[in-house]
Amino acid sequence: LRSPSVAVLGGGTWGTVVASITARHTGTVLWLRDPELAATVRETHRNPRYLPEFDLPPTLRATADLAEAVRDADVVFAAVPSPYLRRVLEAAAGHVRPLIPVISLVKGLEQGTRKRMTEVIAEVLPGHPAGVLSGPNIAREIAQGYAAAATLAMPHHHTAQALQTVLNTARYRVYTSDDVIGVEIAGALKNVFAIAVGLGDGLGAGDNTRAMVITRSLHELTRLGTAVGGRPETFAGLAGMGDLIVTCVSPHSRNRHVGVELGRGRPLSQILAAMNQVAEGVKTTAAVTKLAAERGVEMPIAHEVDAVLNHGQPVEQTYRGLLRVIPGH
Ligand code: 13P
Repeated sequence: LRSPSVAVLGGGTWGTVVASITARHTGTVLWLRDPELAATVRETHRNPRYLPEFDLPPTLRATADLAEAVRDADVVFAAVPSPYLRRVLEAAAGHVRPLIPVISLVKGLEQGTRKRMTEVIAEVLPGHPAGVLSGPNIAREIAQGYAAAATLAMPHHHTAQALQTVLNTARYRVYTSDDVIGVEIAGALKNVFAIAVGLGDGLGAGDNTRAMVITRSLHELTRLGTAVGGRPETFAGLAGMGDLIVTCVSPHSRNRHVGVELGRGRPLSQILAAMNQVAEGVKTTAAVTKLAAERGVEMPIAHEVDAVLNHGQPVEQTYRGLLRVIPGH
């Protein structure tokens, strides 16, 4: 059997790293929105905007032509931020071969509809098996060669198994699951809690306090995740607790960074303007609190993050009662 051709949509850090992994196994095309960046990646085998210090495999092809990227693909991985995913898939739809799997690498919910990314895929590309790859995967660390693992969730086990072969390396291990809802909702929710933890770090909260907030966040994540149909064990796994931990503690996390800077007193608009990437949690938070209200799930931590991001609550108010008080004062 010939190995499947891969198309990766989105040349941000994660799209570039996943394409670099699959290019080591099989023919891979990376689609980048910006033609200039696509030409640079093609000619220099580097992505100077998002991963400047890494050499990409010379076999990795890059294009800004979406039709060309997907035309021969046996599988499409989508690493486009959630606000743009639907549009990009719509533009690709007429060029994608029938019935090939489409895998989301995105950790967010669609604004307005509050749909998960595999629901968006199913709407735009009906009949294509949709899946999600998620886990504690800071892109830069994987590019540096640190060991990591993730969960690939799809309804069809044999398709997931076939895709493991283009993703697994000696340092990157992919496990399979059929809990698409659980894996996907965990990936979206953890970003909200990483902002909460970042706020505490920016305000100077203690390590015990951080561990408390992470643990209670896992509880909130599991409650909402199971209420919308995810399985409890998924939230204790790589895509749940694993990704929650890394996003809440890693200095490389964009979502935690937003929280830290807010905690230090910088305005949100300034923080976002200085980033060249999307912190998904900023937009996901409102969707999550609405979803929680609809389902009657209490999510006090997510609510506090929503109050800061969307309702002008001062950051100190969020950590009221949780900051250091010098004994005797
Ligand atoms: P950020 O989007 O916050 O950088 O999170 C990275 C991540 O999802 C690690 O698994």
